[in-house]
Amino acid sequence: MYQYTDFDRRFVHQRAAQYRDQLDRNLAGKLGDDEFRPLRLQNGWYVQRHAPMLRVAVPYGEIHARQLRQLARIAREHDRGYGHFTTRQNLQFNWIPLVQSADVMDLLAQVDMHGIQTSGNCIRNITSDALAGIAADEVIDPRPYCEVLRQWSTLHPEFAFLPRKFKIAVTGAAEDRAAIAWHDIGLHLRRNAQGEIGFEVLVGGGMGRTPVIASRIREFLPWQQILVFIEAIVRVYNRYGRRDNLYKARIKILVKAEGQKFIDAVEEEFRHILNDDADGSAHLIPQAELDRVKASFVLPEGVTAAGAPSAAPANAGGAFARWLQRNVHAHRLPGYRAVTLSLKRAGQAPGDVTAEQMEAAAAIAERFSHGELRVTHDQNLVLPWVRESELPALWEAATAATFATPNIGLVTDMIACPGGDFCGLANARSLPLAAELTERYADLDEVYDIGDIDLHISGCINSCGHHHSGHIGVLGVDKDGSEWYQLTLGGSDGSTLSGAAVPGKVIGPSFAADEVADAIEAVLDTYRAQRAANERFIDTVRRIGIEPFKGPANAVRRSTAHAA
Ligand code: HEM
Ligand code: SF4
Repeated sequence: MYQYTDFDRRFVHQRAAQYRDQLDRNLAGKLGDDEFRPLRLQNGWYVQRHAPMLRVAVPYGEIHARQLRQLARIAREHDRGYGHFTTRQNLQFNWIPLVQSADVMDLLAQVDMHGIQTSGNCIRNITSDALAGIAADEVIDPRPYCEVLRQWSTLHPEFAFLPRKFKIAVTGAAEDRAAIAWHDIGLHLRRNAQGEIGFEVLVGGGMGRTPVIASRIREFLPWQQILVFIEAIVRVYNRYGRRDNLYKARIKILVKAEGQKFIDAVEEEFRHILNDDADGSAHLIPQAELDRVKASFVLPEGVTAAGAPSAAPANAGGAFARWLQRNVHAHRLPGYRAVTLSLKRAGQAPGDVTAEQMEAAAAIAERFSHGELRVTHDQNLVLPWVRESELPALWEAATAATFATPNIGLVTDMIACPGGDFCGLANARSLPLAAELTERYADLDEVYDIGDIDLHISGCINSCGHHHSGHIGVLGVDKDGSEWYQLTLGGSDGSTLSGAAVPGKVIGPSFAADEVADAIEAVLDTYRAQRAANERFIDTVRRIGIEPFKGPANAVRRSTAHAA
């Protein structure tokens, strides 16, 4: 994984010290709350329903056991003993008292971590494929490019006060595991016919109340020019983005409204920066700089490009076979596999981990994956460097630590935002619904029979739980002060299984809280009755449309007489 430089280390320590001074002044009454707010937000400290929420960045998802142990310590000593992995490769704490925030920043800085630019109207943590650098279907390792982008976009003044937050996702594999079309900028690394490396650039995707799929603005941009091109996009956004209306401020609205005019403006700005370079901002990436950053992504000690002798488990049966099938993934090195530790199990919210579980995951990573892990878009953890010969022992260790539910990609591997239990913006709770569904689908035979499916739950229209891109999406809505849930079908994140990214379609009036699990069950039963042999849920929805699902879902209503 990436090795941080002394510069990076000094920087996060300095930032933590600076923040301590700001907090002290605030607590002493020398810095008003209004003046302190932007300072804490720039370091990832929100104030939420119950306490400040801290969002810690995990750049492009790479995390070391040493860092995870420190997060466990923070959870134990400063929070209520747990944290929450999100869909954008961050970890959130929900209960840290503000007076302890500077201590927590110091603890993070000790392990090269921070919350800088995890909130506010700036370029947020840059996300990537959780299998970056190890995927069998990878064309180009995106991590060095992500790191160059991270260094360049952090603290760049042009990006500090954008009209709204700005999210970039990068992938370099055949499969899109980073949902790039749902981001403000989505980058797909590829090779052209001459074998040169460049980016397909998408712009203007996003969820929220107006879901928009990003438009392709460049089919192939030479990699050296990517910073200039992003700067051009952001300059145009800074100039024309709607600052008068919070709901229309995201770049997706500008791209949608202006279409070709937006593209022309970006291309003109791009030429202007490149040709005139008036202020020296034409940041072409020199080969030597990319090489320097690439060299910082070292293979773990003992791992070589030749891989290891192949040792695929033969004649595996029962639960182990299921785990191999769902939680173990192909690797670019012979003799290695990537393994998902499932954070989806009964009794815990999706993405939630206790301090003990963080310690357990760290110990497993040290024993089986050279201390390295990845945080995934689906709120799980991945071990990137597992030898095939170690799979049986890993399976036992993961089982003992509750990480071995063989459900990756299945109905209980759902995404859920914290909803009304933690989030001040929520219209409804997400977590009790996630718990109810996990309990209802506890029978693995049934879960396997339903097969591949993306179930995504958001507590409000802000869409943190990606409900728009779920094959089944659930959205919490407020009606007269009580919790209701809207169901959508047919959404896609853009993966091969799901097809081109598209928002799901609403199947009718909302359901009451005690009906929504029944409605989902009715939808899944309809699928099972209607599917052709080996047809997956999303394909059945595509083939027959959403109409046949409406009747059975509506039949479970008990209390919707007055629902709109
Ligand atoms: C409880 C604390 C949280 C608050 C207050 C919050 C707030 C928001 C708001 C206001 C938006 C809409 C922004 C816009 O469209 O301009 C948003 C979007 C989003 N948030 Fe959160 N969020 C929280 C937690 C989370 C969590 C836990 C996750 C991951 C599970 C998450 C991931 C996202 C994503 C992926 C989006 C969609 C971005 C898009 O429009 O494409 N957030 N959040
Ligand atoms: S979707 Fe709404 S309820 Fe869920 S975390 Fe985001 S803002 Fe909060």
